[in-house]
Amino acid sequence: MAGTAEIILDGKTYQYPTIEGTEGEKAIDIAKLRDETGYITIDSGYKNTGATKSAITFLDGELGILHYRGYSIEDLAEKANFLEVAYLLIYGELPTTEQYSKFEHDIRTHTIVNEDMRRIFNGFPVNAHPMGVMSSLVSAMSGFYPDSYDDKAPDRTETHIIRLLAKFPTLATWCYKKSHGHPINYPKNSLDYCSNFLHMMFSLPVEDYHVDPIVSAALNKLLILHADHEQNCSTSTVRLVGSSKANIYSSISAGISALWGPLHGGANQEVIEMLEEIKADGGDVMKFVNKAKDKNSGFRLMGFGHRVYKNFDPRARIIKKAADDILGKLGVNDPVLEIAKGLEEAALHDDYFVSRKLYPNVDFYSGIIYRALGIPTNMFTVMFALGRLPGWIAQWKEMRANKEPIGRPRQIYTGATDRPFVPMAER
Ligand code: CMC
Repeated sequence: MAGTAEIILDGKTYQYPTIEGTEGEKAIDIAKLRDETGYITIDSGYKNTGATKSAITFLDGELGILHYRGYSIEDLAEKANFLEVAYLLIYGELPTTEQYSKFEHDIRTHTIVNEDMRRIFNGFPVNAHPMGVMSSLVSAMSGFYPDSYDDKAPDRTETHIIRLLAKFPTLATWCYKKSHGHPINYPKNSLDYCSNFLHMMFSLPVEDYHVDPIVSAALNKLLILHADHEQNCSTSTVRLVGSSKANIYSSISAGISALWGPLHGGANQEVIEMLEEIKADGGDVMKFVNKAKDKNSGFRLMGFGHRVYKNFDPRARIIKKAADDILGKLGVNDPVLEIAKGLEEAALHDDYFVSRKLYPNVDFYSGIIYRALGIPTNMFTVMFALGRLPGWIAQWKEMRANKEPIGRPRQIYTGATDRPFVPMAER
């Protein structure tokens, strides 16, 4: 129910409307605050600031709830396939059979990438991090589809969306193949989305490759779990860049760059590296728990803590269960799974983590599954990006449809005040 908030500033009372979302979250609408009072708000890291109204994803950090367009993540991860979820996020409803067939067909028939993109790709050193390569290649796609930034061209957004979804897996597998010195595979459009990705990743021209349905199903689940997460760092970046009317390719490219950071999607790579370090060090998890508690160490328990989830991350619960299940089915015995469980157990019983409400997040167990599927560590964050792509697209599209103004935060200036210029010889 809409209400009013009163703010008293310099002895004067101002009234601002409150708004409430469909799930009961409340906000004070301060759009007129500066005009009326001369004040702005300061909220470093946007811990209390809503940047937009959105109808895509709802999450309740206290209760550990995550919904895409009203459907629970538990239901979707169990019952849906990734493209169905992508459609749901982008277009707002689960697709009918006809809508799904068209969507999937369109994606299947756009998987090939312009050969000139290979020249750009070939210029990267073999050990370039795939996230940097992916961000560059996705941005470069705008050059191949200039109507994406031509305001006078007919609106081809829907085609650009299909291209992004179709070509991203192809580009991602280029990175993997190059790092292995293997020939790049062309997509096989008879295969479904996840199977085609696995084919491009792992098949070699010298032998037959059959997609393992266990691997394909596991990938499908992981991608769904990563598909959207409302206004996180990379999604906010996509919306912010897009708000300047930048094209969809550059906006998504910026999102990839934001995701790369170790406090965001890059954490999945860091988790495995941390678990390997614990293993190499003899497996003493308490030593690392204590290190994470020591503020002078500069070390954090990667895969732990979340800006919004202060109870548990529902995605982490699903992934932990899936890790046991998938590794069991594939007959993989990865010693870091036991280390991860031991580390989780130790942290969840430690007052430092309990009092700060730090729980395993989506990145804690995902890397263990990726590794069991044969995906190398430096590709983990690319897998996150592949999953997050429909979310970024949906959020970009919503921002445009809502005709949101250009994003432009204010600041409180703390630098030097007005002073005369001093010529160089006199300094
Ligand atoms: N290990 C040790 N201490 C931690 C950790 C951690 N992983 N995370 C937070 N803390 C402490 C932090 O030092 C602070 O302590 P104090 O109150 O004494 O200063 C307190 O907990 C609150 O931390 P914060 O940094 O203010 O919390 P935040 O909401 O700004 O940060 C976070 C959230 C995810 C960046 C942070 O928990 C973190 O750095 N985690 C490790 C990186 C990680 O796993 N990132 C993946 C996030 S989930 C997937 C995604 O979004 O991509």
